[in-house]
Amino acid sequence: MSERPNVLITRPVMSEAEKALRERCDVTVHENEFGIPRPELLEVVAGRDALITMLTEKVDAELLAAAGPQLKIVANHAVGFDNINLADCTAAGVMATNTPEVLTETTADTAFALLMSAARRVGEGERFLRSRQKWIWGPLMMMGQDVHHKTIGIVGFGRIGQAVARRAKGFGMKVVYHDAVQLPPEVEAETGAERREMDVLLAEADFISIHVNLTEETRHLFGAEAFGKMKPTAVLVNTSRGPVVDEQALADALKAGEIFAAGLDVFEREPDVTEDLLQLENVVIIPHLGSATVDTRLAMGMLTVENVFAAIDGKLPPTLLNPDVFE
Ligand code: DGY
Repeated sequence: MSERPNVLITRPVMSEAEKALRERCDVTVHENEFGIPRPELLEVVAGRDALITMLTEKVDAELLAAAGPQLKIVANHAVGFDNINLADCTAAGVMATNTPEVLTETTADTAFALLMSAARRVGEGERFLRSRQKWIWGPLMMMGQDVHHKTIGIVGFGRIGQAVARRAKGFGMKVVYHDAVQLPPEVEAETGAERREMDVLLAEADFISIHVNLTEETRHLFGAEAFGKMKPTAVLVNTSRGPVVDEQALADALKAGEIFAAGLDVFEREPDVTEDLLQLENVVIIPHLGSATVDTRLAMGMLTVENVFAAIDGKLPPTLLNPDVFE
C-alpha cells in the first residue's frame, strides 16, 4: 500500500470526520447531492484502498471487481447494511463495516417522534393551520389516540427496539415485543417487555414500531394480512427499512380505516414514496432522518474513519461485519 492510502467517499460526511481522514489519506469526496450514479462509481472506485459508502450504494461483486485488488475495506456510513453483499466482500477479501450503537438512541428518538406525531395528528394539524382555513376550537376537533398507558409492540428487539422500549416505559406503556429469539431476563426486566408471537402482538398492540433488518424473511413482513390483524385504532411506525412494509397495502389499510395512522421514516422504493401515501392525512412521513442529528452524524463519521484506519493499519476494524474474511 502506498504511504498515503487512497479513499473514496460517496457522499459528503461531517467535516470533522473528513478532516481526520485527510490527516492520513488522500481523500476524494463525491459531491453530487443526488448521489453517485452507478456507472460513475464503477469508474472512480478503481484503485482505491478504502471506500466509504452510504446506504444508497449497492456493494456487490461488480463494484468490488471494479475497485480492484487494492481495496481493503468498504466502510458503510450506516448501521443497516442491506446494501452490502457480505459474501461478495468476503470472497473478494474485502472487510465490510457499519456504524452500530452510535445511532441507537437518536433513531429511537425518531421512532418516538413519529409515533407521537401520528397518534396526535401533529402533521395534519400543522398542514391545516398553514392552509389558513377558518377554524375555532372544537370539542370534537382532530381527535387522536392516547399514547400514555397504551400497549406498544416492538418488532425486532435489538439495540434500537430496546431503546424505544425504554422510552415507552417512561410513558407508562405496556411493552410487548416480537423477535426470533427470547431476550435474556435482564433485558426483559430493564424494559419491562414481554415476548409475543407475531399474530398475538399484531392484535394486542396499540402502537407497532418496526426495528428489524431487511432480509428476504422480513421483506413485506407488514402487508395486507398483517394490517387486517391490527386494531383499527393502531398506529404503525417504521424507522427500519422501507421494503419491510408493503407500501401500497399500507396506503389501502390507512384509507379503509383498517388502522388509524402511520409514521414512516423509510420507504419501499426510496427516494420515491407511493403516491397514495402522499395523498393521505393520517400518515406522517419524513425523509429517512432516523440518525440525522449533528452529534450522531459526527459519531457515525468518526466511527467510519476509525474502521478505515484500522483496516489500512492491518488491524481489526471495531465494527467488522464479515470476520470470515480472515479465514
Ligand atoms: C442506518 O444507519 O442504517 C440508517 O438508516 C441511516 O442512518
